[in-house]
Amino acid sequence: MSLTGPDADSFTKVGPGIGDIFSGMMMAFGILAALRLAEATGEGQFVDVAMYDAVLSLCERAVYLNDFNGTTPGPEGNNHPFLAPFGLFKAKDGAVAIGVVEDKFWKILADAMGGDALCSNAKFATRAARAEHKDALNSLVETWTKGHTKAELSAILGGKIPFGPLNSITDIVDDPHVLERSMLAQVYNPDSPKAPWTVASNPLRFSASKSPPLGSPPRLGQHNAQYLSPDPEKASRKFDPRTLRSAFGKFATGVTIVTTCQSDGAPRGITANSFTSVSLDPPILLICIAKSALSKSVFSECEHFGVNILRSTQQDVSTLFASKSAEKFDKADYEKSLQGTPVIKETLANFICRRQKSVDAGDHLVIFGEVIDFRSDDGSPLLYFNGDYCSID
Ligand SMILES: Cc1cc2nc3c(=O)[nH]c(=O)nc-3n(C[C@H](O)[C@H](O)[C@H](O)COP(=O)(O)O)c2cc1C
Repeated sequence: MSLTGPDADSFTKVGPGIGDIFSGMMMAFGILAALRLAEATGEGQFVDVAMYDAVLSLCERAVYLNDFNGTTPGPEGNNHPFLAPFGLFKAKDGAVAIGVVEDKFWKILADAMGGDALCSNAKFATRAARAEHKDALNSLVETWTKGHTKAELSAILGGKIPFGPLNSITDIVDDPHVLERSMLAQVYNPDSPKAPWTVASNPLRFSASKSPPLGSPPRLGQHNAQYLSPDPEKASRKFDPRTLRSAFGKFATGVTIVTTCQSDGAPRGITANSFTSVSLDPPILLICIAKSALSKSVFSECEHFGVNILRSTQQDVSTLFASKSAEKFDKADYEKSLQGTPVIKETLANFICRRQKSVDAGDHLVIFGEVIDFRSDDGSPLLYFNGDYCSID
């Protein structure tokens, strides 16, 4: 507010609730960024936006002017501290906003206002000259704008220079642009269904999907049962984990060693039978890493990982990598791929993958990888069934 208003004696409140809306928008950005990290790593976090901080970040010009020039900027009225003509100018039936930020816009405006004499006037030829003669220039421009209606000025300047008529809400309701962009929407009024409310629409437009219709706001507590009460269905779903594990174990799988390299170059790997081939084109596979695994965070953040399918003769390798030992790789026979991913030797097949994304799924992370290299060999696989190793031989 120390920047708004006509002069230092008339500090003026900003029109809309900028502090509320901008802080909420910043929080929405923060939540989306945190969601991306949660999808990549499975880790949540607390996102904090103070309204004071959000509004301070909006007042960036005051901060750098104070730093660069040592000044304390005051109310700027309807003009700009170092650009002219810039601001609100009276018209016959209201006002218009004009923002001449570049010489080329000044030429267009000067041409519309009076032609050659004004265009070639050295007092207004450059941005610095116009700033120096700001007051004279602004009153010259206003003398001209006052002789025209907003519609006339829109026809002369609209789309040619930064320009807009000062709209009231009734102007906005009748504005063809607003109609074209569906920027005013009607939402259901639960108290009076025949008298829907008109609200401002969401200004975001996505090329891949249509904006869904706006719903009316929920009544206080309307969704408490859905979000706050214990889920009765979930409560009845109390399975004994051992019985469930045993049921899952009825599905016979192969056994893999999933490998990667941590940021200091140290190899990491675990035994995993959660391998699934997902897509041939593009080539995608997935693995599931338990959140309890010591190497979970390395896998959730790695750039590349490898999947090594074991042979029936490699049960000892599976046992080694199913351990929590820090020296797994000291005892393993492996080499490194071009990407630095450990590749276990003598296996039935190896895949080198670029990690695409990690999806949080209960007590595991599902990690998707795009296959960038692979090799396979003939032979018999190591199998895992009913909680035990076996083979097809
Ligand atoms: C046959 C078999 C399959 C396994 N499959 C998985 C799996 O798919 N995902 C997983 O996170 N752990 C799996 N494990 C357990 C991990 O190998 C084990 O927890 C390992 O100690 C994790 O290593 P880390 O704590 O050093 O990261 C499996 C173990 C065995 C024996």
